[in-house]
Parts: sequence; C-alpha cells; structure tokens
Amino acid sequence: MNRNAAIGVFDSGMGGLTVMRALCRALPRERFIYLGDTARLPYGTKSADTVKRYALQATEALRRRGVKMIVLACNTASVALPELQTAFAPLPVMGVIAPGADAAIAATPAGPIAVIATEGTVKGGAYVRAIEARGRVGVVQQACPLFVPMSEEGLIAGPIADAIAHRYLDPLLATVPRPKCLLLGCTHYPVLKDVIAKVAGDAIVLVDSAETAARAAIKLLAENDLNADRSENGPPQFLVTDAPDRFARVGEIFFGQAIDPGCVSLVDLQ
Ligand code: DGL
Repeated sequence: MNRNAAIGVFDSGMGGLTVMRALCRALPRERFIYLGDTARLPYGTKSADTVKRYALQATEALRRRGVKMIVLACNTASVALPELQTAFAPLPVMGVIAPGADAAIAATPAGPIAVIATEGTVKGGAYVRAIEARGRVGVVQQACPLFVPMSEEGLIAGPIADAIAHRYLDPLLATVPRPKCLLLGCTHYPVLKDVIAKVAGDAIVLVDSAETAARAAIKLLAENDLNADRSENGPPQFLVTDAPDRFARVGEIFFGQAIDPGCVSLVDLQ
C-alpha cells in the first residue's frame, strides 16, 4: 500500500462531509477523496441488501483510485462494514458506529442514551449492540427520516425545521428515565445541531461521532503504518454520482468551508 495515497471517504450524499471536515483537521498531511452517492440518496429508507450493494460499488470505485484506507462516513452503510472489510482486505476500512458509541459513553458516564438515526440504522440496531457491548444498557432509538432530505436541501433552521424536530424528538425526550445523551447517529445530522439542541434543551448532551471517528482514523493509519510522509497534501477531491454543482454549493454547509466546483467530478458506480 502506498503511504502517500489518498484516504477514501464515503457517504450516500453530503453527510459524510461532517466527518471529512474533522478528518482534514486531524490529519493535515493526508490527501482525501470523498465519494457521495448523490444519485441514490437517501440510503436510510432502503433495504439492507440494496445499501450493501451500493456500498460495495462505492468502495470499489475508491479502491480503483488507489486509496490506502476507507472511512465509511455513513452510519446506514455500516451495515456493509464486515463484508467490505473482508472483500477489500488488506485495505483498512473503518466505520463510524464504534466511534459514535465511544463518544456517547465518554460524554455521559451513566444513564440512558438516546440515538437518532435513519430508519435503516435504527432497524439494524447497530448502535444498540455497540453501546451494550461497551457495558451500557438503556438505549432508546428514534428514526428521523426527514432530517436527511431537509439537510441536503439546506433547510436547517426556521419553523418547518423546528416542527419536524419536535415531532421526532418529543416522544424520545418523554422517555422515562429521561436520556442524558442524544447521539446523532447519522452523519447528516450535525448540520441540524442548532435546531436539535433548541428542541432537546440543556439537560441533554448532544454527541456526534466526527471527532472520535477522526481519532479512530489516526489510530488505524498508525496501526497499518500508512501515515503520509510528505509535507504537501493538496486539495480534497470530490466524486459524486449526480449534480456536482449542487454538491459544491450545498456541501459547504456540511464541510464548513467552500468546495471548489473544479474539484467535484461525476462518477458512475455501476
Ligand atoms: N449520512 C448517512 C448516515 O450516516 C445516511 C443518509 C441517508 O439516508 O442516505 O446514516
């Protein structure tokens, strides 16, 4: 494996940019190629078999571009993580579920943890398993299917966003005992942090997995002896399966910095 090759980051759309933002900060010497499957988003309402097929195609597209490691920056696609790790070995492939579970437990040492995620992630129960495997019980979950299209639309504040957040969060917050921690189990949700925090109130800690995922990526690179040894990293490259101009425009909300449209290209995964 070439230690100066790029790291591949994958999500169904723009959500993974919230993770890539943390990765770019934590790993300033690394180069990144981001792949957003914008033509087939959302993954969260699709069957596990379909999501696995899409995740295999996306990982293959990144592998063909010579990446040295893959970060699956999509909780929903993490249903495919074991298959991807086997199929693409020795290429290291990591997900965001384990870092998310670690972050939730670190944020609140006791009490129930509430997880909001896509329908697919909730149904698959990956967070319940990961958190319980770390010795915590009392996980409650809520699927928030409209949060992904809302955020991809840039609808991240205002009365409509508030009303939808209330609809999803009120029942969850009424759970007894009241959760102490609200884990954002979808990489799209950090852009809705303000509205979620407003509805959830001060008594609950909001946690997203981006920073812990970045720390897990640092560890995985070191374990595989894959740290880049050059000083120049170059701008990130973005691949999308549809609407590159829209990705460059709206993606800024997720990435936290402007995306040069010249760095976004179309790719066909099939
Ligand atoms: N961002 C993805 C996640 O973390 C899912 C979005 C979608 O439904 O496609 O689960």
